[in-house]
Amino acid sequence: MMVEKIVDAFKDRFGAEPVIFRAPGRVNLIGEHTDYNDGFVMPAAIDRYVYFAIKPNGQNVYRFHAFDLNKSFTTTTNLISPSKSRWANYLLGVISQMIGYGKDIPGFDCVFGGNVPIGAGLSSSAAIEIGLAFALNHIFSLGFTPMQLALIGQKAEHEYAGVKCGIMDQFASLHGKMNHVLKLDCRSLDFEPFELRTDDFSIILVNTGVKHSLASSEYNIRRNECQVGVDILKKYNANISSLRDVSLDMLNEHKSEFDKKVWDRCSYVVEENLRVKQAGEALQNKDFQLFGRLMYQSHYGLKEKYEVSCPELDKLVDITEPLDYVLGSRMMGGGFGGCTINLVRNTHIDQFIEQVKLHYKTPQGNTPDVITCVIVNGAELFS
Ligand code: GLA
Repeated sequence: MMVEKIVDAFKDRFGAEPVIFRAPGRVNLIGEHTDYNDGFVMPAAIDRYVYFAIKPNGQNVYRFHAFDLNKSFTTTTNLISPSKSRWANYLLGVISQMIGYGKDIPGFDCVFGGNVPIGAGLSSSAAIEIGLAFALNHIFSLGFTPMQLALIGQKAEHEYAGVKCGIMDQFASLHGKMNHVLKLDCRSLDFEPFELRTDDFSIILVNTGVKHSLASSEYNIRRNECQVGVDILKKYNANISSLRDVSLDMLNEHKSEFDKKVWDRCSYVVEENLRVKQAGEALQNKDFQLFGRLMYQSHYGLKEKYEVSCPELDKLVDITEPLDYVLGSRMMGGGFGGCTINLVRNTHIDQFIEQVKLHYKTPQGNTPDVITCVIVNGAELFS
């Protein structure tokens, strides 16, 4: 068991008995690149975790060990600043945010590691941020609400990892609810759970094997392009502060003032928000066929208008098109690699995997990793 290895590593290094926490990775059923536009998303936490073994050390140092990388990092408590070590920044960013809230974070020792694949679009970085934020909140009784912890994780990513991400990943890692997807309004931060049982069909991820290396630079560019669109429309209506406030009619009315690329980006976001609303209704009506069609539409919008897909993701989605036991398929997360998410009838899971393996090879020539997910609760005290 992975968690036992992490506990043993903690005991070997620090000679003490730690407390264990875990935070999950996430999937997103629909609503991509809408969170930073104040729109709607529909994520769920999945049974892939980052575990944290942690204990206060009574000294003025934070000592971290990344179990999976076999690397360590130590810093004194009054010297928190971004480091050259990428992985340490996710942790330091969280501490720095908490200190920014006026909290005292005493020294502690920590070993962490898990099985959320890195670079696959399952938010391993959010699971690291939220795992630590949740653990510190607990062991030092800091009194943050779950939503504050999510915001702390998001800000850590902005300031210490340089990605201007939305709130979806950190939100999902904290608020996840077993057997439910969560429709989140990224403006009000209100959310509504919708039951999604996997009795009839499963959520299956297929990893392209392409690491989403372009994701952070292109991500920030997309954010700016959306802002350009908002700035154009704001001139006509001062109440518009994000694409959330924009309708397709407004976009069409002012189409001539838009550069084609910016118009495509904005119309994708407005359409995707509408799809999330429809997807919620479809789940309420148990209309999974409609839900699946919306997933495909989301993919084509991301591919053609938002241009964050890649040939490998497109190929994986195309393979599923003729398979009537696949309800929906689309790229998931920031894009440019990572996984597709597929809703597949339980009666045909073996056939699905067979088809994918027959028709797709990763750029390295390997058969792709296929991950079947169970929807679980968010971050928690493990033992
Ligand atoms: C990444 C970000 C999220 C979200 C998605 C795209 O996962 O961290 O905030 O914007 O991309 O939907």
